[in-house]
Amino acid sequence: MTHPIQSGSQHAAPSHTAAARDRVLIFDTTLRDGEQCPGATMTFEEKLEVADALDAMGVDIIEAGFPIASEGDFEAVSEIARRIKRATVAGLARAISADIARAGEAVRHAARPRIHTFVSTSPIHLEHQMRKSEAQVLDIITATVAQARNLVEDVEWSAMDATRTPIEYLCRAVETAIKAGATTINLPDTVGYATPAEYRAMFEAVRARVPNADKAIFSAHCHNDLGLAVANSLAAIEGGVRQVECTINGIGERAGNAALEEIVMALKVRGDVMPYETGIETTQLMRVSKAVSSACSFPVQYNKAIVGRNAFAHESGIHQDGMLKNQSTYEIMTPASVGVTKTSLVMGKHSGRAAFRSKLKEMGYDLGDNQLEDAFTRFKALADRKKHVYDEDIEALVDENIATAHDRIRLELLTVIAGTRGPQRATMKLAVDGRSVTEEAEGNGPIDAVFNAIKAIVPHEAVLELYDVHAVTEGTDAQAEVTVRLSRDGAAVTGRGADPDTLVASAKAYLAALNKLVARGVRQHAQAAE
Ligand code: KIV
Ligand code: ZN
Repeated sequence: MTHPIQSGSQHAAPSHTAAARDRVLIFDTTLRDGEQCPGATMTFEEKLEVADALDAMGVDIIEAGFPIASEGDFEAVSEIARRIKRATVAGLARAISADIARAGEAVRHAARPRIHTFVSTSPIHLEHQMRKSEAQVLDIITATVAQARNLVEDVEWSAMDATRTPIEYLCRAVETAIKAGATTINLPDTVGYATPAEYRAMFEAVRARVPNADKAIFSAHCHNDLGLAVANSLAAIEGGVRQVECTINGIGERAGNAALEEIVMALKVRGDVMPYETGIETTQLMRVSKAVSSACSFPVQYNKAIVGRNAFAHESGIHQDGMLKNQSTYEIMTPASVGVTKTSLVMGKHSGRAAFRSKLKEMGYDLGDNQLEDAFTRFKALADRKKHVYDEDIEALVDENIATAHDRIRLELLTVIAGTRGPQRATMKLAVDGRSVTEEAEGNGPIDAVFNAIKAIVPHEAVLELYDVHAVTEGTDAQAEVTVRLSRDGAAVTGRGADPDTLVASAKAYLAALNKLVARGVRQHAQAAE
């Protein structure tokens, strides 16, 4: 095996030429399966930003949403279909005529539209959820795939819970779908139950037994309930799959979906044993990971492969010693290959606008003039309070700036009296739709007082489900990053806020979540009025 760093190439693959490499299509479902998971809801604008970032990074297919699920989903899929010019844009539909019609309508303006329709095939789902016989499901497949194929050329069909479906029936279902016009066949491990060897064998068996298998591209879709989603996706590729479905940061139902960045980098770094290529520009992985994490306010775990903040950090003496002598001792890929720039310190209160602009550019941000001005003002305020401003601080500040651009409730002022003698008391001034309102509130602790002050100004029924705080960088003057999850009527949203003052960061995070609920309420209200 040639080490990629020793060989000077991230693509080191001595036994395979570039021409021998098969292309694996990357189907990103961050905006559908990812967004579907509790707390990862994104606003309309955030979905557009994520779609743009995915397209720019080279994703082949963007599953933009589930158009029949809500008016908001329909609008987001339609708008993404209109604006994305390179990638295929897919809309999901159950095997129901109304769903397929709605998905077709949502993607019809796409340069490359796809309808993705699915139905369960496993005995467990047929008996307990669908209450249909195998023969009935085959008829449904024929009718719904044909309907989709009448609307678009590119139809993906998924056998939900494929990995718990007897192989004979799975083959009949796949043959039926291809006969009806499906061009991609996805066999998901819906419940994250398969092992890599089983999943690979399933694809090999289906491709060998189904007579018209050569007429479709096979696709893997893995959930991570046993932590095997990425391993299963790679095994599926070995079994003949040429499309993998995945999400940024592995977000998704329950334990999540296979992480895009892990699959892509595994194929790239281990090209010596897996001779496949993707169209992903890997230097954008970190940036897109942060964009998704900030859009859905879903923190990335520190030790997450590829994009976790510790993924390229070396703490132990032995490792640091090795790294200083030669990077290949403890790194199998360069941080730069995934877009991690290793600058530590560097901006301070004397840095001017031009330096700040070029720093942002270097970090991959492309802000408009107003956003840049806003970010610069906040940077100056931060630099006045904090001795060293690190890249992570700037990132937290800019991400917050982007996330709050459309907020209707904004923090103007906060004073808190805390200490051993309670009750703690918060005085808060908020701008609500541009109008300033001030209130005071007490609480059982300073955070409680801050949240009560928000409730006094903006009364609401939302329930606080999660409050989490961590430091963005080291030191007692580090910025605190707070995550707050609120739920109302069964729907959860998360908000994040960063500030050197933990109480201010808490208020910002709570308001970020509340603004999402407000935006969602307004959209629902408008839909009801329509
Ligand atoms: O996990 C699954 O089976 C799905 C299907 C809708 C493709 O997400
Ligand atoms: Zn799924």
